[in-house]
Amino acid sequence: MKHFTSILQLGDLSEALAEAAAVKADPFADQQLGRNKTVLLVFFNNSLRTRLSTQKAALNLGMNPIVLDVNQGAWKLETGRGVVMDGDKSEHLLEAIPVMGSYCDMIGVRSFARFESKEDDYNEVILNQFIQYSGKPVFSMEAATRHPLQTFADIITIEEHKTKPRPKVVMTWAPHPKALPQAVPNSFIEGMSMTDYDFVIANPEGYDLAPEFVGNARVTHDQDEALAGADFVYAKNWASYEQYGQVLSRDRSWTVTKEKMALTDNAFFLHCLPVRRNMIVSDDVIESPRSLVIPEAANRVVSAQTVMKRLLERL
Ligand code: CP
Repeated sequence: MKHFTSILQLGDLSEALAEAAAVKADPFADQQLGRNKTVLLVFFNNSLRTRLSTQKAALNLGMNPIVLDVNQGAWKLETGRGVVMDGDKSEHLLEAIPVMGSYCDMIGVRSFARFESKEDDYNEVILNQFIQYSGKPVFSMEAATRHPLQTFADIITIEEHKTKPRPKVVMTWAPHPKALPQAVPNSFIEGMSMTDYDFVIANPEGYDLAPEFVGNARVTHDQDEALAGADFVYAKNWASYEQYGQVLSRDRSWTVTKEKMALTDNAFFLHCLPVRRNMIVSDDVIESPRSLVIPEAANRVVSAQTVMKRLLERL
């Protein structure tokens, strides 16, 4: 694994989960591995969990983390090739990336879908330029189409709490006032394809995800049918893929409430956070003892540390 942009690059999931469990049990065991190594964390978008958990993971590995918020204090970056730079952007990404690469041993990048061009987003133009021009291992801290560190933490959390060998896991769309990227649900589907869980996607008409991600996964437009007998409910909003980047519905009958959870087999509730309460999920569900959102977020340190450890081992 030279770069990490998809959960599929973990390879054998059982091995990755065993490695993650070892990291969690003894977080400082690999302090020497990262000694005198620097990781640069580049954020084009806001973050709480990724920013903190990845820095913590780097420190656990003995690394020196540097954080760059591109939109706060750095020169405004042009990303389009061939652009006459006579506007407000002072530096081109094509110089900035190799410069960043010269200051570190590996780079984490957060760069969301911009919803300006489905083609650009789904070709991961920003992330791929870091891979092409930085000269360093690159890992995704959520890119336009995937959020693999989140998915790895999600699966670690499910594995820690499942009571059946093959739990029913439902990923359900839920309403949100703004257009959100498809990275988390796309990535979660990829992660589920690595398991033998009974996996179902529930979303309203018009919200089917990209066929290359959905693959053979079961999709229903009936949320209640999906939730019946579920062991885990993973709620998430995403903007339409078909009408790319559009918000087609804010239908709160899709909000995950106590009544919806009553359809399940006493399911655990998961969400990657941040979450809009009483849009995505009701207060009583997220505050219930079956809500795993805090341990799920805590496992972001474990997923980041396991991935960075693997990248360090290849340096
Ligand atoms: N789940 C997640 O990635 O959270 P942040 O956007 O706060 O990093």
